Amino acid sequence: MSTYNLKYESIKELPNSGLITCQSPSNIALVKYWGKKSVQIPTNPSLSFTLKNCHTSTSIKFIKKERFSFEFKINNQNKPEFIPKLDTFFSRIKDWVPFIFNYNIEINTENTFPHSSGIASSASGFSALSLAISQLEQKITGISEIEKYTKASFISRLGSGSASRSLYGPCAIWGVHEDVKNSSDEYAIEHSSVNHIFESYQDTILLIDKGIKKISSTVGHDLMNNHPYSKQRYHQAYRHLKELITVLESGDLEQFILLTEKEALTLHAMMMTSNPYFILMKEGTLSTIKKVWDFRKDTKIPLSFTLDAGANVHLLYPIDYQQSVMDFINSDLIVFCENQQYIC
Ligand code: DP6
Repeated sequence: MSTYNLKYESIKELPNSGLITCQSPSNIALVKYWGKKSVQIPTNPSLSFTLKNCHTSTSIKFIKKERFSFEFKINNQNKPEFIPKLDTFFSRIKDWVPFIFNYNIEINTENTFPHSSGIASSASGFSALSLAISQLEQKITGISEIEKYTKASFISRLGSGSASRSLYGPCAIWGVHEDVKNSSDEYAIEHSSVNHIFESYQDTILLIDKGIKKISSTVGHDLMNNHPYSKQRYHQAYRHLKELITVLESGDLEQFILLTEKEALTLHAMMMTSNPYFILMKEGTLSTIKKVWDFRKDTKIPLSFTLDAGANVHLLYPIDYQQSVMDFINSDLIVFCENQQYIC
């Protein structure tokens, strides 16, 4: 990475047309990104688990044209509601991937997880699209594989911050931290020095509320700017990231549970104390958390939860306890899931 500066440098002629298909997973933050500066720079570093079973496959069909234009489809159907977010994305990446503006691009995307399930598809969606664009850049300029992924993470960030972390696994870190070599606010890096227990760690997502988001992430992030506790929160996240790195390496599940649950609850506490304030948890979210705590106490099974900016609950546990946890979900938690749905 020493000489690569992320700027596009053309060497070959642009192809007249082509088709590129890329796939990228979603991710769940353990240390949360909540708060940003312009443009898409996080106010604290974050760390995520990559969800390899929840991914988006995106193809871009490009044909040379006088003027840039794009179409966007999910499962071959036009989705005009996504156009404004994509317009912003393309305007932000203009200087970094200028070659794309010589084309008409047809973007077609498919998710492996149910559409409108309440699972954010922006992380997998933007990272898959960005990877396809970087792949085209690689064709034209011959950048290396490492550079391709860095560039994809960089431009994903400009679409949606958390998307920058989806390009790497089993964990990814986005945002500068003095203890993390090569960490950057502009793109994520792989974090792979994890204990074997975390390599196969499970995340089962309980779909408590499948409705569309009640508040956009961008609005939520903005509320951190005048938040009375934002400074303390950024310091806490910075500290948590360092602690989590140690825990991921040692495999200390007790500490892992403490840290990740504290992060989830702090994220929601920030929402509940911003101006305006809001609550994204539902009754089912709280009932699930209470049940998880009782189950952990009674069985000593290291089952824990995390939350994103919504009501759904991510259950985290080592693969060895899969059967017991599935039995518990089906007997005690399924009642809190909309249409009895969950995603493994
Ligand atoms: C709570 O990445 O969706 O999931 O950059 O505005 O698109 P934008 O925000 P987004 O925020 C994710 C917030 C979070 C925590 C996280 O994933 O780190």
